[in-house]
Amino acid sequence: MQIHITVRQALLFVTILLFRAVSSQVSYSIPEEMAKGSLVGSVAQDLGLDVKRLRLGNGRVYSGDSSDYVELNAERGVLLVKERIDREALCGDTTPCALHFQIVLENPMEFYSVTVEITDINDNAPTFEKAEIKFLISESSAVGAKFDLERAVDLDVGINTLQSYVLKPSGHFLLKLQNHADGTKNVEMVLQKPLDREKNEFISLVLTAVDGGEPQMSGTMQILITVLDANDNAPVFTQPIYKATVSENSAKGTVVTTVSASDADQGLNGKITYSITSTMDEVRQIFEVNEENGEVTLIGRLDYEKKKLFQINVRARDNGGLTDSCKVMVDVVDINDNEPVIKIMSKSTVISESANPNTVVTMINIQDPDAGKNGNVQCFLNEDIPFILKLTTNNFYSLVTEGELDRERDSEYNITVTCSDEGVPSLSSSVTLTLQISDVNDNPPVFERSSYEAYIVENNTPGVSIFTVKARDADWNQNARVSYILEDSSVNGVPVSSYVSVSADSGVIHAVKSFDYEQIKDFQFIIKAQDGGSPPLSSNVTVKILIQDQNDNPPQVLYPVQTGGSMVAEMVPRSADVGYLVTKVVAVDVDSGQNAWLSYKLQKATDRALFEVGLQNGEIRTIRQVTDKDAVKQRLTVIVEDNGQPSRSATVIVNVAVADSFPEVLSEFSEFPHNKEYNDNLTFYLVLALAVVSFLFITCLVVIISVKIYRWRQSRILYHSSLPVIPYYPPRYSDTLGTGTLPHVYNYEVCRTTDSRKSESKFGRAGSQNMLIMDPSSTGTMQRIQNETNILDEPDSPLEVTASLSTYRSLMLTL
Ligand SMILES: *[C@@H]1O[C@H](CO)[C@@H](O)[C@H](O)[C@H]1NC(C)=O
Ligand SMILES: *[C@@H]1O[C@H](CO)[C@@H](O)[C@H](O)[C@H]1NC(C)=O
Repeated sequence: MQIHITVRQALLFVTILLFRAVSSQVSYSIPEEMAKGSLVGSVAQDLGLDVKRLRLGNGRVYSGDSSDYVELNAERGVLLVKERIDREALCGDTTPCALHFQIVLENPMEFYSVTVEITDINDNAPTFEKAEIKFLISESSAVGAKFDLERAVDLDVGINTLQSYVLKPSGHFLLKLQNHADGTKNVEMVLQKPLDREKNEFISLVLTAVDGGEPQMSGTMQILITVLDANDNAPVFTQPIYKATVSENSAKGTVVTTVSASDADQGLNGKITYSITSTMDEVRQIFEVNEENGEVTLIGRLDYEKKKLFQINVRARDNGGLTDSCKVMVDVVDINDNEPVIKIMSKSTVISESANPNTVVTMINIQDPDAGKNGNVQCFLNEDIPFILKLTTNNFYSLVTEGELDRERDSEYNITVTCSDEGVPSLSSSVTLTLQISDVNDNPPVFERSSYEAYIVENNTPGVSIFTVKARDADWNQNARVSYILEDSSVNGVPVSSYVSVSADSGVIHAVKSFDYEQIKDFQFIIKAQDGGSPPLSSNVTVKILIQDQNDNPPQVLYPVQTGGSMVAEMVPRSADVGYLVTKVVAVDVDSGQNAWLSYKLQKATDRALFEVGLQNGEIRTIRQVTDKDAVKQRLTVIVEDNGQPSRSATVIVNVAVADSFPEVLSEFSEFPHNKEYNDNLTFYLVLALAVVSFLFITCLVVIISVKIYRWRQSRILYHSSLPVIPYYPPRYSDTLGTGTLPHVYNYEVCRTTDSRKSESKFGRAGSQNMLIMDPSSTGTMQRIQNETNILDEPDSPLEVTASLSTYRSLMLTL
């Protein structure tokens, strides 16, 4: 078909040329790109030339440099395409595009102009210089932003050349063509919808350029858009509030929690740093947030008791300055790290022993700042004390007495209050309160013994201390200060205070006077002990004082009565047998006990072999047969000793006459040599006494006569009554020697004279062979008897007394 059309066109041009043949000019029009040898035109015919002529004329094409495209076929008289003709190469975009050449004939030389117009066919597609172009566009670019695109090129002309562009996919960008003054079109794409890198980071578009040819041709170019990030997203925490718990006292560096925020942006715009926003409190001294990873760590010490809950404001910030914030609520968990604190609220540490049960001693305050069980406190006291703890109000205990107090039993208490909480492990603490019990005068003084007996030896010096009574008072201080008071009483009608005194402070009993056992053997009185309390308490004790005998009295010889130098002799008949009782020494001792226990010993004797003295009874007996050779005068010295310590003694001289008749005795005794040592001393007294004696002698004669008469009468009574007559013993003299002391009954007859030499006594006798002559002028041993009987106040009134031992057991003295 193409060829048909071309032929028809060629024919049309030939016709025109024929019409113009006269001008020897011919034109043809052929499309470009015709195949080699294709007919351009029947030039011989169109020029009116004969083919022969052409052949002969050696017709040829003359065309400068374009001769290569078309050649002349002289044989056929036609022009043929010698070489492919590319209009675009030949003319570019110049239109119309024509080849101008001449056909030259020789013989004769003639030439004809031929013009061959080359018409365009759509043999070129629009093309872009690059297959793709790249853009970097910020996501923050505003709508309406323009971006230049490259144009496409289509070598064809006219309708075959570039007609329009298409951009696909559409959405973010629109194409906009801009017509320039030179007729070229500029291609731009315009942002019509905001970009979001976070949604679409890479956008790929295809720009297609199309021409208007038939068939249409096109070229494409890829547009690659990279959306650049803009900091259009703020960081966002994963939670608005984070909750965490951490135990108090946790170590530094403990991670409490981790906060996390995200940022959709990229790179630096998405790089988050964490920080704690400024707060007034001390949170920043305690917590730290890692700015890179959001770890919240502990850098300070947590004390539940100071703060239980922390609120940390954490901010996340990206590099572009966008922020978000969150709260971290940290609950501090209690640890049992506080022991209970015990406070004793009163300062007083003294309570009276008379305090009633339930008396409040003190209040005690307990504090444990820990929470829950860790702060639940139980308190108790040490055991075995009369106190209890009572819970009064929360955390307050009162310490009260539980029973009676007695200072005398326990004067102080160490009260230990121990409190422990219920934590695991439990913590406890304790406080010790020393409570003093003050004294009340509730105890009377108590004597160490219920009664006292004390001894004092007679003849004490007045004022000597006898004994000490002691009373103790269990109370304290003044209440226990004991004074001793002698209670008034009387002893034998005399106030006791004249016997003894008591030292109020010391309780020492002093003798006020010297005691005589022989007068008073014991007495008793009451001492009161009184304390210094108010009112005072007292108690009594009986004190009995026993006076002890002292050997202060020597034995007293009652018989034989000592006459000094005078002669009293016992008669011993020469016919006396062994064991003949010569006489009996009778002595008494007013002391008592051992001090009055007498013993008799022979101290000296003319002939020791003849006599002995009974140690116990004082009986003097012969121990061998008396012979004629024995002297008439025998002198025995008997010592009477008591058993006291030291012992006291008395001596008695017993003269014994060994003779059968009284005159024999007298003759012997008248020559009895005087004791020389007495002679000198006595001479003076004898002379002096002589005058007195002379006077008394007369008196004595009268007495003797009276006595004789009296005795005569008396002896008659005696014979009738047959009563034994025994010597007189002092009333105090009990029969210590037993009834054996005086086994015989004696009857004495005494004549008292001041002159022992001249006086003589005649003893009446009943059933006794003994005869005694004695001189009672030595009255020393008889003093007591005189004092007690008052009988001998008048020496001139002799008495003859008889008594019956068996009837009265009393002693009688016959003078
Ligand atoms: C109380 O404690 C003190 C000091 O430890 C001690 O001297 C005292 O003897 C104690 N008293 C009692 C009654 O235990
Ligand atoms: C002590 O003795 C006195 C006098 O005998 C008497 O009045 C008093 O009541 C006695 N006191 C006591 C505690 O026995």
